[in-house]
Amino acid sequence: MPDNVKIMIPKEEIGKKVAELGAKITEDFKDRDVMLIGVLKGSFIFMADLVRAIKLPVEMDFISAKSYSGTTTTGVVNVKMDTHLDIEGKTVMLVEDILDTGKTLSALRETMYSRGARDVKIVTFLDKPARRTVDIKADYCCYTIEDRFVVGYGLDYNEQYRNLDYIGEVIL
Ligand code: IMP
Ligand code: MG
Repeated sequence: MPDNVKIMIPKEEIGKKVAELGAKITEDFKDRDVMLIGVLKGSFIFMADLVRAIKLPVEMDFISAKSYSGTTTTGVVNVKMDTHLDIEGKTVMLVEDILDTGKTLSALRETMYSRGARDVKIVTFLDKPARRTVDIKADYCCYTIEDRFVVGYGLDYNEQYRNLDYIGEVIL
């Protein structure tokens, strides 16, 4: 374990929480055509765990939108890699690692509606409401956290620590 990272949410707890969220989504979207779109790179581990906890026929795709450099936001959201599937008429669930200022997801939500999505839901592993600068709320969230910079379970600090199997706080 890196000595400048302090455990905030242990692996075992994450597993239980994601299973519960998958069960809830399974219940809520029984008769819908659901498409999960993972926001890369941060969501890849959460997405992999979540889709296996959803017991419905779902489609999945990925999009890459970058708005970050170091620990501060640039406020610019660029689509670096786009989805491939047809979004028209679908219930799209945007799957994120963390909802921070909200800029990324609010821009991506608009993009999905402009492409004809029937509905867009926000699914995030972590939520940091104290940092919000745009009006957006998660429809599904595993943990609400304080304003701390966290890593692991897909989240990085300058591209490091994504592979930690827990959520940790970086001691800078
Ligand atoms: P937003 O557009 O400000 O909501 O940015 C969300 C993105 O910022 C996330 O997808 C992460 O990539 C990044 N981010 C925000 N907070 C953290 C953090 O605490 N650790 C790692 N990445 C973060
Ligand atoms: Mg990210």
